[in-house]
Amino acid sequence: MRSSRPFVRLNAAITADGKIAPANRVFVPFGSRRDHDLLFRLRAQSDAVMAGARTVDLYPTTLGPGSKKYRILRLRKGLPEYNLRIVVSGSGTLDPKAEIFKKRHSPIILLTSEKIPAKKLKLLRSLADDVGVFGKNELDFPTAMRWLRSKWKIKTLVCEGGGALNDAMLRARVVDEVYLTICPLILGGRAAPTLADGIGFESLAKAARLKLKSFRRIKDELFLVYTPLRG
Ligand SMILES: NC(=O)c1ccc[n+]([C@@H]2O[C@H](COP(=O)([O-])OP(=O)(O)OC[C@H]3O[C@@H](n4cnc5c(N)ncnc54)[C@H](OP(=O)(O)O)[C@@H]3O)[C@@H](O)[C@H]2O)c1
Repeated sequence: MRSSRPFVRLNAAITADGKIAPANRVFVPFGSRRDHDLLFRLRAQSDAVMAGARTVDLYPTTLGPGSKKYRILRLRKGLPEYNLRIVVSGSGTLDPKAEIFKKRHSPIILLTSEKIPAKKLKLLRSLADDVGVFGKNELDFPTAMRWLRSKWKIKTLVCEGGGALNDAMLRARVVDEVYLTICPLILGGRAAPTLADGIGFESLAKAARLKLKSFRRIKDELFLVYTPLRG
């Protein structure tokens, strides 16, 4: 089953109260240098980096491989110097002026659903290198993942949030590892995004269960790796 889709790692830095950003959703890099390094090391072992529309357009991110050091790591692993980039925007609200479209160092793939208005689809088609339309309302992630594997030969993918996308990926059961950095601060606030927002699991019985694979404490930060349990 898994070999027909990419191996997916989900990576996030969270506060001690599970938030991924303050209530105003302005990106604040609250992780340490170590956490930053982890993000680029995970990118350096992935064919593609994926994020949701808000993560991409609220902050000038390019989802690229980072500095020369990490690009060399990629080349040593036999990967292309620049990773593929995937943006999820089910109804096409992604800002066409987002920074990501200004850096053309590697293909940008847009995943969307049939909910996207025709005009927006046309505009985003002109900006992205490829567009996959999957699902009527919510994006059909299992089908999209299989398409990424067969069409773009993506074997490893790192999903970098935000909360809405993480939730959808976990509910679709297409996540193979969860990398969490628990940072020593509390942001609080009902409106602040958390690791997995969106629709969520409807009951405890249906929740994503995780097995702790490894953990490491460095100063006041905890670096955890979980494996979601199947079935
Ligand atoms: N601490 C961290 O590690 C970290 C990492 C990443 C992001 N962040 C923060 O997280 C915040 C953004 O998170 P967010 O939850 O607001 O947004 P998000 O997940 O980045 O993007 C949400 C958008 O993605 C699309 N999408 C997500 N799930 C979908 C689904 N199931 N079907 C179809 N489309 C789907 C939708 O686009 P359409 O509206 O076009 O349908 C949705 O509006 C920002 O504040 C950012 O700084 C923190």
